[in-house]
Amino acid sequence: MSLLRSLRSPSLIRAAHVRYNSSLPDIDAKNLQFTRTSNPKPIPQSSTLVFGKTFSDHMLTIPWNIEAGWGTPEIKPYGPLALDPSCTVLHYAQTVFEGMKAYRQESGRVLLFRPDMNMKRMNSSARRIALPTFNGNALLDVMKELIRLDKHWIPKEPGHSLYIRPTLIGTQKAVGVSPPTDALLFVICSPVGPYYPKGFKPVSLYGTTEYVRASPGGTGAYKLGVNYAPGILPQKEAAKQGYAQNLWLHGPEHYLTEVGTMNMFVVFRKDNGTIELVTPPLDGMILPGVTRDSVLCLARDHASGKHQLPGLADRLVVNERPVTMREVKEASKNGKLVELFGAGTAAVISPVDRIGYQGEDVHIPTGEGGMGPVSRAIWKELVGRQTGAIASDWSVVVCDS
Ligand SMILES: Cc1ncc(COP(=O)(O)O)c(C=O)c1O
Repeated sequence: MSLLRSLRSPSLIRAAHVRYNSSLPDIDAKNLQFTRTSNPKPIPQSSTLVFGKTFSDHMLTIPWNIEAGWGTPEIKPYGPLALDPSCTVLHYAQTVFEGMKAYRQESGRVLLFRPDMNMKRMNSSARRIALPTFNGNALLDVMKELIRLDKHWIPKEPGHSLYIRPTLIGTQKAVGVSPPTDALLFVICSPVGPYYPKGFKPVSLYGTTEYVRASPGGTGAYKLGVNYAPGILPQKEAAKQGYAQNLWLHGPEHYLTEVGTMNMFVVFRKDNGTIELVTPPLDGMILPGVTRDSVLCLARDHASGKHQLPGLADRLVVNERPVTMREVKEASKNGKLVELFGAGTAAVISPVDRIGYQGEDVHIPTGEGGMGPVSRAIWKELVGRQTGAIASDWSVVVCDS
């Protein structure tokens, strides 16, 4: 069937109708079922953890069907999923995911950082590829149960956390491009160490013009699996040339967009002595990062005098505006570039020391200990709030001990 005909088919019209029928059951924490593992795994030493390679004892699954809505949430032993080889996720990349962290304080209290933003973004991603949406608060409630059950997997050492990966996939057994009639939401947890265990190590970027990560009207603003596989080959090619990550550039002007899988910020020193913190605007090509938003909020609160951060420049302006490689290159040459950094949940802040661009290296200053003066002041406050060392309404308590 042609795509156009399939879009007009009665079953699809019905599918679209049922999908948005709000009378169907949503996720309901009251229905949660538990099956504890009878075979708990040994918990590895924190010093041996490699990001994303170790998983806790349990996972959460919630099935969805177009006629029945969201089904029973189940916490069960971590293990393989049974998927039919025809199922849509395997052929058409019907998958969206999130990345968030739970932090354990010395008292045993466990905190999540702005999880409402992840729930909102996951729903927005799901909507973009016609996967079912859900009540984010209800998912959060059942996720908290999973984290409470596996909280002993959260390493106690400073800088460590439990990385949480909620994922939603289309599971309809059918070869054919259409919204799936079945889906599965699952959540897995991975204990992780600090991204920079031996202090900040600035990374080098390859200013990539041969490939694009996102384009206008595309899917760059959503956390879809389909956005990531095409970035692996460019990443390998950047690595071959001695760069750690791709700096994704867009259009003939070579606008800076994102760094690897992070949002990015540049800091300029203006002629009048003002310090300008800039990040590209959310124009549909940029993922609306939780860290990006947090950096912006902290910097704006400082600039407005609402909440000043120690060590951060008094005369700070914060802008979401396009930045070109030409502007960065000129600022580097003229001594007006203060720093450039990536921002994301995994590394929090990732300083950059050079950008390979059109056959030469653009040098980026890095401050004391590998981190610039603006990112350092913001990072301190941000990490304090994430771990609960600094109280804030961005913290959500999972359990008190
Ligand atoms: C492409 C991309 N950009 C930016 C980010 C940063 O987002 P967040 O701060 O929510 O982790 C991520 C990581 O999730 C990402 O994959």
